Amino acid sequence: MNQAHLHKLVSSQLKEKDPEKLFNLRLATNLTLIQELFFSLYPENEHKDHFQNLLALLPKLFESRPGELKKQDLQRVQSTNWYQSEKIMGMQLYVEHFNQDLNGLREKIPYFKKLGVNFLHLMPITTRPKGENDGGYAVNSYLEVDKRYGTKEDLLALTKEFRKEGIYLMLDFVVNHTSNEFSWAKKAMKGDKKYQGYYYTFEDNTIPTEFEKNLPEVFPETSPGNFTYIPEMERWVMTVFNSYQWDLNYTNPQVFLEMLTNLVKLSDMGVDVVRFDALAFLWKKIGTISQNLPEAHNLIALFRMCLQVVAPGVILLAEAIVAPTDIVKYFGEDQKRGNECEVAYNASLMALLWNSIATKKTTLLYKSLLHVPEKPKDCTWINYIRCHDDIGLGYENQLIEELGWNPGMHRKFLLDYYCQRLDWSPATGLMFMYNPKTGDGRITGSAASLLGLEKGLATKNRQLIDQSIAKIIMLHGITLAFGGIPLIYAGDEIGTLNDYSFKNDASKKDDSRWVNRPMQDWETISKLDDRELPQSKIFHTLQRLIQIRKDNPVFADNNGVTLCHTGNDHILVFEKKGNHPQGLLVLCNFDEHPQVIESSWIKKMGYFTKGDPIDLVSDTKLIANSGLLELLPYQMIWLKKD
Ligand code: GLC
Repeated sequence: MNQAHLHKLVSSQLKEKDPEKLFNLRLATNLTLIQELFFSLYPENEHKDHFQNLLALLPKLFESRPGELKKQDLQRVQSTNWYQSEKIMGMQLYVEHFNQDLNGLREKIPYFKKLGVNFLHLMPITTRPKGENDGGYAVNSYLEVDKRYGTKEDLLALTKEFRKEGIYLMLDFVVNHTSNEFSWAKKAMKGDKKYQGYYYTFEDNTIPTEFEKNLPEVFPETSPGNFTYIPEMERWVMTVFNSYQWDLNYTNPQVFLEMLTNLVKLSDMGVDVVRFDALAFLWKKIGTISQNLPEAHNLIALFRMCLQVVAPGVILLAEAIVAPTDIVKYFGEDQKRGNECEVAYNASLMALLWNSIATKKTTLLYKSLLHVPEKPKDCTWINYIRCHDDIGLGYENQLIEELGWNPGMHRKFLLDYYCQRLDWSPATGLMFMYNPKTGDGRITGSAASLLGLEKGLATKNRQLIDQSIAKIIMLHGITLAFGGIPLIYAGDEIGTLNDYSFKNDASKKDDSRWVNRPMQDWETISKLDDRELPQSKIFHTLQRLIQIRKDNPVFADNNGVTLCHTGNDHILVFEKKGNHPQGLLVLCNFDEHPQVIESSWIKKMGYFTKGDPIDLVSDTKLIANSGLLELLPYQMIWLKKD
């Protein structure tokens, strides 16, 4: 049983729901774990005072949490896990690219309602350096809204409106690093020893050289190496991402206490889900790649356990774009099971779907997903196909080899297929961070461009256009049915193509991820009534699928997904079981040719029993000819069992 369940039990015992008393009970319930986690990172003999400080901080943080949110916290403690509901549909967007600023965003609530979206991830909105700032992931502050988006009051008005409208809000907490303009970094640069200790700074490069022996490079093209020399400070500082992003030093408990305060204050603005950015990197150790270390997990669980005491209605999302078997660990293992992050990006599914499109086969997808241990019941995935970042090819080499493929050659094929090195490929993606030393690279581009819509439109190739629409629907359809929160990237609902304007902007031109950070195309949206437009077909089909998801509890996440083998390597079939006897069978054809499945096989699964079943996606009866069910190229079928 995870701690959230204990809180539910404990609070249900209390007749009078006095927030103060409940806070004390939550603290008592989590205290042993908090203490163990704290002392595992900060040994007791040296850090008793810091632990005292933490104990003094928690009630203060609780006291300043707004009453309205405290009330909501209590309701959430009592209710079941809202984030696993079939009613949730997410969208990720850049506020300034969507409709200018926070007030502009508020005006677009009717658009979200029309599509069925009720969960928003807004990309960073706090202050950042003027020039390069990694799309706001170089933070000058954790709490101050950047002028371009509006004011803190605008944000508070927005979150209030969201609560009224039943829209959940996710914001980033860039927990691993600050910008070099953050107040702590500025003080460190001026020679303040206290703040130099908030980062990993070194007087010469002896220790950096030791670290570098094992550290990989995140941005090898634009920011090679993991350390930057700062002449003003006459010291080296660890900068794993860009040279202007300084890694926070969590071996210093003062950093943890300050960041916990920032985390709670961010939550106090009405945030429902906090996206823990780059959390795999939180702890560093010489001789390791300094990712996914056990201490990082303890630190995240410590944040979680403290936040749960102060603001139990707020949950955490793990942004861990790491190997499939490492991602699930961010839900917590052993004693921490279910006590780390409630939600994690399903980056493995995402990357495997792109592999299946390029290879037209689902073999690696089956192999890889079957290899991942099941997640804890109370946790869930964010299922997505595209986001603001690149697509990394983090498949497990051993599994690629088991299919008889050479991992290096296979990755090269994927880069060639998506990054315009093969004439016959329909994809028009760009390469990201190609490393000639290793041959490694990643892929960027919008979903529609990667799936052939850009090429189809440019060459007026009807078949290519239709196939790309089918692929766009199929991939999004999988994210809707897989169990978890489906997160659509703004613009993908209308098949937005690559935006090449970043090449003319000095602060963006070296980062090809900008090709998929387009302006929301309101002109196209105003024409969606013209049902013949490819964009309309995509929008209206997705809108319908989202509604089907919301109307059918079988789509809720309850760990009920089973992969089903059909013997046809081009097809993906999975069954989603509901809490009741209902079930949903999802069948997808990843090939450019029609493929068949024996209808007796589907019958055995318990579908196709009472005559010809209805496919929810096309809303037509499925007819099996000579015992075979045909799936058209890139067709997705949803069959429901009641
Ligand atoms: C996350 C963000 C990415 C950013 C990085 C560093 O991975 O998604 O955009 O570059 O963190 O903050």
